[in-house]
Amino acid sequence: MDRILCRFPRGFHWGAATSAHQVEGGNRANDWTRFEQKPGVIRDGSVSGEACRHWERFDEDFARARGYGHTMHRLSLEWSRIEPERGRRDEAAIAHYHAVLASLKRHGLVPVVTLHHFTNPLWIADAGGWEERATIDRFCEHVRFCAREYGGEVDWWCTVNEPEVYAFRSYSEGLWPPAKRDDASALRVMANLLEAHGRAWRILHEEDRADADGDGRAVLAGFAKHLPQLVPARRWFPPDAIRARIEDRVFNEAPLRAAVSGALLLSIPGAPAVARFVPELEKSLDFVGLNYYTRWHVRAFDRVPHVARRGAPVNDLGWEVWPEGLARAARRAASVGAPVLITEHGFADRADALRPRALVESLLALGGEIASGTPVVGYLHWSLMDNFEWAEGFDGRFGLEEVDFSAPARPRTPRRSAEVLARIARANAIDEALAREVGARLPHIPG
Ligand code: FCB
Repeated sequence: MDRILCRFPRGFHWGAATSAHQVEGGNRANDWTRFEQKPGVIRDGSVSGEACRHWERFDEDFARARGYGHTMHRLSLEWSRIEPERGRRDEAAIAHYHAVLASLKRHGLVPVVTLHHFTNPLWIADAGGWEERATIDRFCEHVRFCAREYGGEVDWWCTVNEPEVYAFRSYSEGLWPPAKRDDASALRVMANLLEAHGRAWRILHEEDRADADGDGRAVLAGFAKHLPQLVPARRWFPPDAIRARIEDRVFNEAPLRAAVSGALLLSIPGAPAVARFVPELEKSLDFVGLNYYTRWHVRAFDRVPHVARRGAPVNDLGWEVWPEGLARAARRAASVGAPVLITEHGFADRADALRPRALVESLLALGGEIASGTPVVGYLHWSLMDNFEWAEGFDGRFGLEEVDFSAPARPRTPRRSAEVLARIARANAIDEALAREVGARLPHIPG
């Protein structure tokens, strides 16, 4: 019998995460589809198009996920499909998501349902998007509808995915729709999304009284927080440390604090600060969803302010692979006083050269963190399969499975990492043989 290096708690959830626009294909009525048409905005010149055809192939995708020992799956409901025009709901799309949830249930996968994952219906975008407070109201109506419609099938809700990433990419860096470059707008948008989360949390608790899995809890709602580590690039250059601190405060600390205290305090130099108390935000996390990918070294005054540590292993997108970071991020996320669900973690690694080892090392670090008392209830890998990676197009290959986007049927081929994660999920533990097979650095275990 191989020595067990780390055991996960009983009932720990294992699985993968996706989002509608990135995998479904055929999305026509959201702001990303329109944005993708503009020349030069997507790195490889692609459009999401038919993506992975998950819209048609979801049942076989879930069957394979189950085969990998997964017990949970994160997906998002595409608002623009459910409500293509304001107040008009599409019966076929609504039925489709019932079929998706039924398939998950059949395959023994607990759904984690995200209600906003970066895309907006065109009618929302055209009415001013998340800069407008009216969008919060429209989103709340959508949340109420989803809670009533799907509450009997869903207990785990992820209100908003990465409000901070969305706000800065779309409104400050100008890389995502609506491609604005205005820090004041970015702060306003982030505040509105956080307020939307708080209000959505209350609505879900009001409306979803059905305990889908019979564990005594009808609703577990949280947001997904991207938690990059931000550290100064040059220890001898104080502006790097100042910039890293400022960024960490607005990007990481403020959203986590807001969801505990209700106080929204967002500020960056050169833009009017947002300071308001949102009662609905107070204690609005039943769990905190953690998306962790990397650590950034911050350089003040540089055109490229975020770089990987020199000499560090990096993924295909140039992000540092730093396995220890997953454990650190989990500890920080847990500081809100709620259990942590890893809602995303992964590596863009088309050749699957780094991923098996990085995955095992990350999970060994996470296991150690859990053993020392940090409450983590599950791990969802980003992603089940390669998909449309936003402005990177099909260049960022995060899948446990490789997808051939040149073939009409989008065939999926499992990467070695799919089996590595499957072995861990099935055993709910990591043994020494597996760690050695992937060349992982072994933790010191006494005895
Ligand atoms: C996260 C997003 C997810 C995916 C990964 C790589 O920021 O939530 O949709 O693009 O990054």
